[in-house]
Amino acid sequence: MAKLNVNGKVREFEAEPDTPLLWVLREQIGLTGTKYGCGVAQCGACTVHIDGVATRTCVRPVSSVSPNEKVVTIEGLSPNGSHPVQKAWAKLDVPQCGYCQSGMIMAVTALLKAKPNPSDADINAAITNICRCGTYNRIRAAIKVVVAGGNTKSAQLAIQHADGSTT
Ligand code: FES
Ligand code: FES
Repeated sequence: MAKLNVNGKVREFEAEPDTPLLWVLREQIGLTGTKYGCGVAQCGACTVHIDGVATRTCVRPVSSVSPNEKVVTIEGLSPNGSHPVQKAWAKLDVPQCGYCQSGMIMAVTALLKAKPNPSDADINAAITNICRCGTYNRIRAAIKVVVAGGNTKSAQLAIQHADGSTT
């Protein structure tokens, strides 16, 4: 039996070494919050953290993840949906169909841990996940709500463009 550390627990599983981590998480361990979208590392629906780094699991062979590395999925972000990013998502009603949102939230939490006050350029560079429902503006607004401590009134919701203009 191979082992992974997922959401703070050691989990055992059986899978071929080249099985993507995504399928071990979903089918062996039963954590179905992490989604399959494209399968080629383009959409970000399958994003989890490995030692705090946002990682697209559809192309990550499970054998390349050591049991000493800490895997965190959307289910492990908080016990009750109380992570500040989850609260901002709820406050602004970010999801539409919701399919991409686990991956979005994992990508955003990794960004905010590395850069607590990201610029729009930082957000553009780090959050390349695809949302077919087009919730991008609400995602950006929710990131700014988190940066403002959860206060929708004081959050800087305007988007600053490269030419200095805002919308
Ligand atoms: S399913 Fe992994 S990036 Fe799309
Ligand atoms: S909310 Fe539907 S794909 Fe993003």
